[in-house]
Amino acid sequence: MDVKSAKQSGKHIPGKRFRYMIMFILLSAFVIAIALFLLFYDYSEPSDINPQAHLANSTTKDPFISSTKTHEKSTKVHVHTSSTPYPVTQTNPIRRLIFAHTIFRHGSRAPSKNANNTYYPRGRGQLTDRGYNHSFMLGRFLKKRYVGTGFLSDFMKPSEMEWRFRAVERCLATASAVAAGMFKTEERKWLTVPITTNHANQDKLLNTPVHSCDIFESAMEKACPNLEADNHRDESAIMYECAGSNHPIFQKISIDDSDKYINDYKNNVPVPDFICENIEVISEEYMKYRNLKNGIGKPVIIKFRFGVLIDTLLENLKTAWTNNLANKESLKFKVYSTLVLKKNQTTMQ
Ligand SMILES: *[C@@H]1O[C@H](CO)[C@@H](O)[C@H](O)[C@H]1NC(C)=O
Ligand SMILES: *[C@@H]1O[C@H](CO)[C@@H](O)[C@H](O)[C@H]1NC(C)=O
Ligand SMILES: *[C@@H]1O[C@H](CO)[C@@H](O)[C@H](O)[C@H]1NC(C)=O
Ligand SMILES: *[C@@H]1O[C@H](CO)[C@@H](O)[C@H](O)[C@H]1NC(C)=O
Repeated sequence: MDVKSAKQSGKHIPGKRFRYMIMFILLSAFVIAIALFLLFYDYSEPSDINPQAHLANSTTKDPFISSTKTHEKSTKVHVHTSSTPYPVTQTNPIRRLIFAHTIFRHGSRAPSKNANNTYYPRGRGQLTDRGYNHSFMLGRFLKKRYVGTGFLSDFMKPSEMEWRFRAVERCLATASAVAAGMFKTEERKWLTVPITTNHANQDKLLNTPVHSCDIFESAMEKACPNLEADNHRDESAIMYECAGSNHPIFQKISIDDSDKYINDYKNNVPVPDFICENIEVISEEYMKYRNLKNGIGKPVIIKFRFGVLIDTLLENLKTAWTNNLANKESLKFKVYSTLVLKKNQTTMQ
């Protein structure tokens, strides 16, 4: 009935309807035109150099960049090539990058416990082939971004860089693979970078000794009161409880097994069907424990865990800027990697 009456009323005023339609179409076209303009307008500042041409130049010289293109596509890595959002200085009107930080953890690894030797010949906690491959690919991405554009010397100049890693084998191994990806070429198959590490106990930057600090301990105790009291149960199980979650999948496996299954799954190691079917929920629930442990949402804990590192990053930026204003050469690329281990794990795994 409604449709019919609407049709009828439409018939009475066809001209008016038509005008409304035309107005609507014109208005839509106008809005779409504005949206397209805003979307594609080049917001970058005018520049004396043409970054596109610069990039194109170095790209053609580097046989590796074109050969890694498909990899970058498949991992959905975004390379900024159209314009460079680098700051403009008063003293130097040409926009250019003066400093960059790169921070990562490590590539895919073997589980920390119960790693089957057949699949993980390097042993528990160590990078897998997939981990090395992906780290190398990250290096190729960084090569394109920082070496291919001429920001870093393609022959690898140590004074331009600092590679600072926590003394954990999988972090150091990741660094070597990333560095090889960045600097290795057909001619220099052997090229990599100097990597710095410190003994775990003396590494205030990447392994802040949080557990020796009362304020940290009391913040953790507040976040998870049972942690100190219960020495018999696994830390992850207690913290998972503190995170306020209780998924039934953990009646079948322990929360601590998640590490094994998640890493098995990522590295194409066969896992039981029910693990395969529930891998997303296992990962999600496991993250709740990990987030509590890392202090996500708990500023005091975050400050302790990462404050020294963040402070260092800010200092690096200040130093780079000051040196730039003074026309002084200084380090322009710093790479860091660290990870939070369980309380007693301070060794090289
Ligand atoms: C590109 O390469 C040519 C020849 O090697 C050189 O003359 C030119 O200055 C380069 N352009 C840039 C932007 O580096
Ligand atoms: C390790 O994997 C192999 C091959 O799947 C299997 O035969 C072996 O039983 C596994 N070892 C353990 C300890 O699970
Ligand atoms: C590295 O990983 C990528 C993406 O997963 C894959 O396409 C490529 O074949 C791998 N390379 C090697 C040498 O295994
Ligand atoms: C962890 O370290 C503490 C203090 O050094 C020690 O008492 C405890 O037994 C260790 N726990 C484990 C599981 O190794």
